[in-house]
Amino acid sequence: MKRERLVPLTEWARMQGISESLARKWIREGRVEAVRLGHYWYIPEEIDGPERGRQVYTLFTHAGGAGKTSLARDLGFELASRGYRVLLVDADPQANLTAWLGVDPSTVEDGETLLRVIRQDVLPRPREVGRNLHLVPASVDLAVGELELDRKPLGALALRTALEKLTGYDLVFVDSLPSLGSLAVMAALAGDGLIVPVETGAKGVQALKAVIGVAKEYREALRKVDPERVAGRPHIIRAFVPTKYDARTAGDNRVLDTIKELEEIAPVAPRIAYRPGPHRRATEEQVPIQLTGDKEAAEEIAKLADFLLKEVFRYEEVVA
Ligand SMILES: Nc1ncnc2c1ncn2[C@@H]1O[C@H](COP(=O)(O)OP(=O)(O)O)[C@@H](O)[C@H]1O
Ligand SMILES: [Mg+2]
Repeated sequence: MKRERLVPLTEWARMQGISESLARKWIREGRVEAVRLGHYWYIPEEIDGPERGRQVYTLFTHAGGAGKTSLARDLGFELASRGYRVLLVDADPQANLTAWLGVDPSTVEDGETLLRVIRQDVLPRPREVGRNLHLVPASVDLAVGELELDRKPLGALALRTALEKLTGYDLVFVDSLPSLGSLAVMAALAGDGLIVPVETGAKGVQALKAVIGVAKEYREALRKVDPERVAGRPHIIRAFVPTKYDARTAGDNRVLDTIKELEEIAPVAPRIAYRPGPHRRATEEQVPIQLTGDKEAAEEIAKLADFLLKEVFRYEEVVA
């Protein structure tokens, strides 16, 4: 099937065997179609890729500030620009993901959020927030959903069931909230497993015990409703992602050793460094970290995406 990926201008110019300044001239003259995102130009390129089974992952940990929302945004953008059709689902009434993708949460109606799933068992029509990138937004009202879920028989499976009918996407990322309540359970059970960001510090490691504990319970619950999906997999955690790594803090190195031990449960992804400046800019400018102009931050996300594609999603790269 036809897909579109975004080729960074530098890469495109190299592929054409021309200089970047000539490529920029062509853009000015309208000779090539280009899109400007944040600080960068991209050339959309049509590619052929196979139809793939949809996969759904939940960014999950009850620890606040671990990087769930940042990862959902940045991985979403990364994979979408590589040609994957990505749906992001904001399951947090704080609606950070929604706001960071440029959608004002106060303009979001209840029927556009997961309240629709909770009340009517259908997924709302997502908003387009980028090329190949769509969003089921959240708003503060979603908090009411927590109470409604508690009263709904099999409410925990509502999102999973709604997503089963979804077509048109390769990857779905659900951004969970800093809680272990009903909304978080519904988010965790939404699909193929959990991607757990671990803040590289004492606090992050502390949260792990509870995350691993509840993940075991979730797996048991899933085994009852979808035995095939969990067969042969003792865990529903698919990857740990060490985040906010700061080499200057010696304690963090001890923490990293602890994180390494997690390999027994799920692969540990390459770590994400602590970069307060770019992250502040990303939220202010409502762009993913790749578009803030910080090259290292962008490379880090590219590496993380490579890792997840290979170790977790098991997709072959979309071929140009
Ligand atoms: N690698 C990082 N370096 C510095 N700040 C970060 C990093 N990742 C996220 N942040 C910032 O830390 C805060 C919490 O991140 P967030 O993604 O919202 O975590 P969560 O969704 O798990 O609560 C946000 O202000 C975000 O901009
Ligand atoms: Mg968040």
